[in-house]
Amino acid sequence: MQQFQYYTPTKVVFGKDTENQVGKLVKEQKAAKVLIHYGGGSVKRSGLLDRVEASLQAEGIPYVTLGGAVPNPRLSKVYEGIALGKQEGVDFILAVGGGSAIDSAKGIAYGICYEGDVWDFYLKKCLPQKSLPLGVVLTLAATGSEMSDSSVITKEEGWLKRSAKSDLGRPRFAIMNPELTYTLPEYQTMSGCVDIMMHTMERYFSHERDTELVDAMAEGLLRTMMHNAAILLEDPRNYEARSEVMWAGSLSHNGLTGCGRKGDWACHQLEHELGGMFDVAHGAGLSAVWGSWARYVYETDVERFAQFAVRVMGVEENPQDLKATALGGIQALEEFFRSIHMPVSISELGVELTEEQIRELAYKCSFMDTRTIGGFQALNRQDMENIYRKAR
Ligand code: NZQ
Ligand code: ZN
Repeated sequence: MQQFQYYTPTKVVFGKDTENQVGKLVKEQKAAKVLIHYGGGSVKRSGLLDRVEASLQAEGIPYVTLGGAVPNPRLSKVYEGIALGKQEGVDFILAVGGGSAIDSAKGIAYGICYEGDVWDFYLKKCLPQKSLPLGVVLTLAATGSEMSDSSVITKEEGWLKRSAKSDLGRPRFAIMNPELTYTLPEYQTMSGCVDIMMHTMERYFSHERDTELVDAMAEGLLRTMMHNAAILLEDPRNYEARSEVMWAGSLSHNGLTGCGRKGDWACHQLEHELGGMFDVAHGAGLSAVWGSWARYVYETDVERFAQFAVRVMGVEENPQDLKATALGGIQALEEFFRSIHMPVSISELGVELTEEQIRELAYKCSFMDTRTIGGFQALNRQDMENIYRKAR
């Protein structure tokens, strides 16, 4: 096991009706004025926003609201939130929604405390030194942003999707009521399930061997996800399945399954460019590229892929032919993605990539040919083009 730090300061409040505790939780944080940030309106339609506002009012906490964080949230909305937050003198940001509302809220929280352009953090020019504290009422189990250190924002100019990472961005609390996810369309639920699985797989595909405990946790999480995603396909209002998925979402991306090893993250980098350029749902973009990535890199460590095949996908081990076992696991996961109606190619996302677009995606993903991606196997710009082409 390699050296690691595990820092997860978020207070989790989980279960039915927990959103009604939001006022008390904000009060615990000693907030004087709150900016409530949300997305395109699902929280209004469901009545959640009214309940959140009522809970703050009951505690006598003043607030302003700002909606309009879109999927693949935009930098212009972050700027709008920074201006509003400064003008109103808010000292706490409350995100109500999915990963996009939360990530946009993190950008606002950084930007209010920074004199320069908040995009600096996403370009990794510097790290945030200060942030307003942040709380979350989660409505979509997917990104794990409710406990993660990341914020992913798209700059409209050039359609660049970039992430900023800082422990300052980890929310102070996360309210998770699985019932709030009942209203999700099937596509968003399943896209979220893929994202949750991928956050664990990005950490699992590593060459580090002495990680028995985190391997077992990761494998258990992946099996739990497949079991419950299949239940939700038939029965979207199944509370137990919604609960398993929601908790898996947080544990998948709070660092737990990565302790003691270096992760890969190539699929996430490849997907972020697709999301930036074509506005696809993040999880769907991940399932569209995963199989092509896996077949491209599996020979780097066939044993690892064979372990995944046997322990996670239930493939029978063929000790004489570990490659066949490994490939069986890749195929089995693609079949699972298909079974939950998720794409396994980019064209299934409704995007027909031209050669020019493949070159542009790889150019952007390689940060204009200045970096490689992937901890499992380093991939340069040419490799990225090859994978996009195979995934086409
Ligand atoms: O905007 P509203 O009206 O709320 O609708 C949203 C949106 O259209 C809807 N929705 C959310 N909760 C709902 C609901 N509809 C009905 N009922 C509910 N309960 O779902 C749509 C998608 O929402 P969004 O927040 O965009 O989805 P998700 O949570 O998957 O977030 C995706 C974004 O997070 C980034 C992704 O790249 C993408 O930009 N990620 C953030 C990470 C992080 N911060 O740690 C890690 C991830 O790897 C990921 O990159
Ligand atoms: Zn993700």
